[in-house]
Amino acid sequence: MASNLSIEFAGIKFPNPFVLAPAPCTDNAEMVARAFDAGWGGAVLKTTSVESEVVELVYPMLAGLDFEGRRVVGLENIDLISERHIDRVEQDVRDLKRAYPDRVVGASIMGARKEHWQELAARLEAAGADFIECSFSCPHGMPERGMGSTIGQDAQLTERTARWVKEAAGRVPVVIKLTPLVADIVHIAKAVKRSGADAICAINTVKCLIGVDLDTFVPYPQVGGKSTYGGYSGAAIKPIALRCVAEIAKGVDLPITATGGVCTWRDAVEFLICGASTVQICTEVMKRGFGIINELVDGLSGYLERKGFSSPRELVGLALPNIVEHSQLPRGLAPMSHIDRDLCVQCHTCYVACRDGAYQAITIDDEGYPVVDPDVCRGCGMCAEVCPQESCITIAAR
Ligand SMILES: Cc1cc2nc3c(=O)[nH]c(=O)nc-3n(C[C@H](O)[C@H](O)[C@H](O)COP(=O)(O)O)c2cc1C
Repeated sequence: MASNLSIEFAGIKFPNPFVLAPAPCTDNAEMVARAFDAGWGGAVLKTTSVESEVVELVYPMLAGLDFEGRRVVGLENIDLISERHIDRVEQDVRDLKRAYPDRVVGASIMGARKEHWQELAARLEAAGADFIECSFSCPHGMPERGMGSTIGQDAQLTERTARWVKEAAGRVPVVIKLTPLVADIVHIAKAVKRSGADAICAINTVKCLIGVDLDTFVPYPQVGGKSTYGGYSGAAIKPIALRCVAEIAKGVDLPITATGGVCTWRDAVEFLICGASTVQICTEVMKRGFGIINELVDGLSGYLERKGFSSPRELVGLALPNIVEHSQLPRGLAPMSHIDRDLCVQCHTCYVACRDGAYQAITIDDEGYPVVDPDVCRGCGMCAEVCPQESCITIAAR
């Protein structure tokens, strides 16, 4: 196995690209120490604020989306920043850096005004944080005080606030965590670049309403008969996060730490080849615990070895040349669907999907097998996507 998974991000050396995202998993030093003992390369401590900031949490704060028997494919949270103010987080940073000098400790901050942002950054840098991550991106966290995604949805506010933090954090890199809830994330990422900040974290959670109780008409999570819009995370948001990371990587020259739906080593590789240098994970750890680091490390090591790479750095951005505008896609290829009769279980799922969702190119023969009419099939891909048998249907040249 390729044993050296270390990678540099914003000038900081990580022992491996797997980092805990700021969340309940990183809300105190004891938890992060256990994660480091398990093998995590770094952690971003849950977002903190100045002592005067009032943080009033509500419970329950979580609701999961189950899909076809799989629990928590997506997770809504209405959590806020940490109840633990900067004085306690400063101590966490000191304790963790003393005990784990080779691991990376990021401190996440959120402020209501310039003095708060600058005080938070300066104090956490002095405590020994390896980088300062600024949340400009929580979709539900205290917008009434001008915090959270209120900043990240506006390029001018993003540039101005990032510059304040950069002024205060003299030595350590400043990472700006962006929201996907904008029309053009590259426009915002360019504002980060102009501010002089060092890197981007993409993406924070996606504003959502996960579901509604059909008897009481109260959405989830239910807090005393009411609910609110929350932040969506987990496997369900990976495609949105991957798109944002790729767009930023193609549009702006800044290092990226990716977060949003990383559940497996394969997800992590996808984020690296779309331009990220590290991945931050939250929901999958909340579901399955710190121990998932073993399968992440083994999976990535095995992949690098099989592919002949010597470092995760060699993966960064490999997919980017293959992502083009729609108008630049090759035209006139005319592929079609090919069904392998040996693998077909005659479920007719492809037939129904083609009949009612595509081009009516599939018929059923006398023996019950689906047959593709090459004159009608356009190769749209729907039959292959719904087929339950792996490799049974392929879309290829006719
Ligand atoms: C319960 C919960 C609390 C979170 N708290 C924070 C936070 O304090 N600061 C922050 O920047 N992101 C916070 N996040 C967002 C995560 O750091 C992460 O960016 C997001 O969940 C996407 O990653 P995932 O799909 O791996 O969960 C929180 C997410 C959850 C689920």
